[in-house]
Amino acid sequence: MTAGKGRIHPVSAFPMSIAAVSSYLDTTVLGSTMAVIKEIDSTNTYIKKRISVLDDGFTVLSERQYAGRGRLGRKFVSPEGGLYMSTLLIGRDFIENTGALTVRAAVAVKNALKEITGLHDIGIKWVNDIYCDNKKVCGILAESMARKGLCDFSVLGIGVNVTTPKSSFDSEVSEIAGSLSDFVNIGFSKNELAACILNHLEKTLFVKDKRKAAAILDDYRDSSVIIGREVIVIKGDISVRAKVLGIDDDASLYVQYEDGRTEILRTGEVSTKLIGKEKVDE
Ligand code: BTN
Repeated sequence: MTAGKGRIHPVSAFPMSIAAVSSYLDTTVLGSTMAVIKEIDSTNTYIKKRISVLDDGFTVLSERQYAGRGRLGRKFVSPEGGLYMSTLLIGRDFIENTGALTVRAAVAVKNALKEITGLHDIGIKWVNDIYCDNKKVCGILAESMARKGLCDFSVLGIGVNVTTPKSSFDSEVSEIAGSLSDFVNIGFSKNELAACILNHLEKTLFVKDKRKAAAILDDYRDSSVIIGREVIVIKGDISVRAKVLGIDDDASLYVQYEDGRTEILRTGEVSTKLIGKEKVDE
């Protein structure tokens, strides 16, 4: 079912609160302490500034960011209509394995968005953007750090366009961005959405069993909207056309350029832009 432009989404307008998010939570660590701040610079920055006094699993939720940050030092436009949240993970070895954090977070958020919207056409665009019908509806920023005198920590930030109007995105972003409300009636509140994301994150982030970890990686590959597609690989000022051949176990992207050369692209170095809508034939 499509909501259509200009529709009012009364459920999504329900105010966010710790009590309401908690009522949908089914976690032991994530969200055990929380803050809800209506408007904030950046939820990731909020946690990083207060790292020494916050608990493992602390989560901050907001409805607007005025200095939202994206991957590779980019800004993340964060107007009203979105859900912006960050969670602190302390001493969980993600520094050595940021690939695993990326993969597990993307799979969890994808599953949460599928569950809450009922939409099937939700996939992952490498590294960890969530797409619905060729539009980016969610971005994820994982930042891991070692700090002297403190345990290693990661901050996992998630921004979902829930009912964000197209006019709120700047021109560069509006080409690729979409909101969940473009695809479905928003019959859920941001409180439910936030809890649903945390519930799914707790199912993937702490997995130690090798077989379960491999199944999460398989889910990541199966949900990829980029494997088999033509992309523009962007490294700093350089943009080159390539075909995506696959994704490695460490979440690196395996691509082939038009001159036949292949390359393994590591997360954190590059970004990609999808071309066209379909997979490219062999
Ligand atoms: C990207 O698309 O490059 C990643 C975007 C990540 C945005 C989220 S919103 C919550 C958290 N706070 C931030 O400043 N960024 C992340």
